[in-house]
Amino acid sequence: MASQLTDAFARRFYYLRLSITDVCNFRCTYCLPDGYRPSGVSNKGFLTVDEVRRVTRAFSALGTEKVRLTGGEPTLRRDFTDIIATVRENPAIRQIAVTTNGYRMARDVASWRDAGLTNINVSLDSLDARQFHAITGQDKFHQVMGGIDAAFDAGFSRVKVNTVLMRDVNHHQLDTFLAWIKPRRIQLRVIELMETGEGSELFRKHHISGMVLRDELLKRGWLHQLRQRSDGPAQVFCHPDYEGEIGLIMPYEKDFCASCNRLRVSSIGKLHLCLFGEGGVELRDLLADDHQQAALESRIAAALTHKKQTHFLHQGNTGITQNLSYIGG
Ligand code: GTP
Ligand code: 5AD
Ligand code: SF4
Repeated sequence: MASQLTDAFARRFYYLRLSITDVCNFRCTYCLPDGYRPSGVSNKGFLTVDEVRRVTRAFSALGTEKVRLTGGEPTLRRDFTDIIATVRENPAIRQIAVTTNGYRMARDVASWRDAGLTNINVSLDSLDARQFHAITGQDKFHQVMGGIDAAFDAGFSRVKVNTVLMRDVNHHQLDTFLAWIKPRRIQLRVIELMETGEGSELFRKHHISGMVLRDELLKRGWLHQLRQRSDGPAQVFCHPDYEGEIGLIMPYEKDFCASCNRLRVSSIGKLHLCLFGEGGVELRDLLADDHQQAALESRIAAALTHKKQTHFLHQGNTGITQNLSYIGG
């Protein structure tokens, strides 16, 4: 029986967000407005398939049941399907998810499904092709929309769509998004813009409080659902007339971190206890062969004793994260 990773605040961590690359081919204004720039830090290369196997094995021995592959853009890796299959070999991991910009979905989603992928979250910040291009720097709106259809065709019963709503940018698209999910089994994640080191000006101009977004949903008849363990930080809303649902993510709310259920490992093998946490705990030296499993598990468990109760964003802390592409949002 696997032991359970629990912290000093009785939170249980059964969910690992594993970044497998920093590289991204989009330039989302709130994340990588100037595009991906290789930094010296990735000279050693990103985690190999064997390293992914070892790190996920250690986490699963400590109670991890869900692994989300993130980036950068994780699906740009040529061995992405092999990575899914490798994680899938571990019977303790019951969910394998990806967060993607959708670029490769139309082409590859069926093979990801065959390899064992169970959940997909796609970023989509506008239903207007020109605005999509303006936000992401890529003229790929129709390709991403085709990818979402392809995911349903490949057998995914529900898809999550991430939309960061920004004042004077795409906020006015809320009703268009709601109409779009009315007949579709989509959970629209309405995400409050977060301030990053590189995005302070954008934040000042375009941030909309999560409470404002919540009130807009309530005004339109959306009903707040009771929290389920699988919701993580999202507050889920349903509407009797809609097939789709809403997951509202409000990182600036006081209690946001109380439901934290996840840990992060970066693409170069550092354990991060929080999206807005400090430098990270090195794990890579213990990932080189199969004989260091016990030491790896001990290091992960010991690190957890340092996890803080909250990131204090609600008290004005901006965090030190330069952008979210390095540890996968
Ligand atoms: P599920 O695994 O389906 O619950 O999705 P998720 O919300 O964890 O994953 P996804 O990668 O789609 O992230 C959606 C948004 O939530 C992104 O904007 C993330 O940056 C944000 N997010 C995810 N985890 C955290 C977290 O621990 N802290 C904060 N502040 N934001 C987070
Ligand atoms: N604020 C909110 N969400 C962000 N993401 C990246 N940067 C930010 C930010 N500054 C999220 C997007 C995307 C996911 C991968 O990361 O929602 O869907
Ligand atoms: Fe790339 Fe995702 Fe960042 Fe957009 S949000 S630039 S798709 S990593």
